[in-house]
This record gives sequence, C-alpha cells and structure tokens, in this order.
Amino acid sequence: MISPTKGNELIVSKIKNGTVIDHIPAGRALSVLRILGIKGNEGFRIALVMNVESKKIGRKDIVKIEDREIDKKEASLITLIAPFATINIIRNYNVVEKRKMQLPKIVKGIVKCPNPQCITNNDVEAESKFLTISVKPLKLKCQYCETYITEEDVLRQIL
Ligand code: CTP
Ligand code: ZN
Repeated sequence: MISPTKGNELIVSKIKNGTVIDHIPAGRALSVLRILGIKGNEGFRIALVMNVESKKIGRKDIVKIEDREIDKKEASLITLIAPFATINIIRNYNVVEKRKMQLPKIVKGIVKCPNPQCITNNDVEAESKFLTISVKPLKLKCQYCETYITEEDVLRQIL
C-alpha cells in the first residue's frame, strides 16, 4: 500500500470503499483505532500514516479503513482526541461524504469517570455520562459526581 516517490513524501494508495480519517493530530492514529474498537485482527485492510506533513496542521496522521464505513456516533467520539479530523466516506474511489464532526454535548460510554466513588464505577448498569464543558481545551464533567476530566485523562484512558 505504501510506495516511496522521488521526493520525500509518502504515497499511500487510494482506497476503493471505506473510510479515510484525515487531519488527525500527529501521533494519535492508534488512539483513533482504539476509539473505533479496531484491534487489527478483524480482517479488513487498514493503512496508518503517521507524522506526515500537513498544510493545515503541521504534522498529521491519517487512517484508512477499507470496506468499513464508520457511523456518526463513532465519528463524533473521534473528535474527543482529534477535534479537526475530517471523516471521508469513500465509495467506488470517490469521496461521497466529508464530515467535519463536532463533539456531542453529552458523551456516553467510552470515557470512564476517574472518581472511584462515582456510581458509574460501582453499578454495572450505570453508563458513564459526561457533559461537554469545553472543546479546546477539552473539558468534560461527569453528570453523576461532577468530576472534571481533561484531554490528558481521555488520552491516558484510551492508550
Ligand atoms: N482518499 C483515499 N481514497 C480515495 C479517495 C480519497 O484514500 N478513493 C483520501 C485522500 O488521499 C485524502 C482523503 O481521502 O487523504 C480526502 O480526500 P480528498 O477530499 O480528495 O482530499 P483533499 O481535498 O485534500 O481533502 P481535504 O480538503 O479534507 O484536506
Ligand atoms: Zn463520576
């Protein structure tokens, strides 16, 4: 999938069908896969490009997933750690949809409350629920115990 070119750029071939997540902050491609629940043993082809030059954000990562279209909920969760990511849905080599996602007002599941006393850590049926206070810098507030979490906390949990 990767071939060197004359310059010092890295070319990853286009995909026929699937999803391309572009403009991920450099170094966070693996965390994006983590959010999507992709371990790599599912069978579909995946290309990760990390730390390449970007006109918009300095350096960036790109994730290409063949034959899987990620849904709106997954895409919005990616904005937790990649607020400027673009989600491109590819069909028959064409970009048929380009989504710029926004973090949902309420983030359910995925992020754990750091407070061990919180009900979400003590009742198996309680799902974590955070209110988005701010996107940049990321700040979420647990709706049950009002504990705040930051981007660092989220990254630490995901990695
Ligand atoms: N892409 C791909 N396979 C395709 C079509 C597009 O892997 N069949 C990738 C491109 O390489 C690019 C991303 O999907 O990384 C978005 O494609 P496109 O919209 O054509 O590129 P740009 O216009 O550069 O995107 P943007 O404006 O979002 O930067
Ligand atoms: Zn809590």
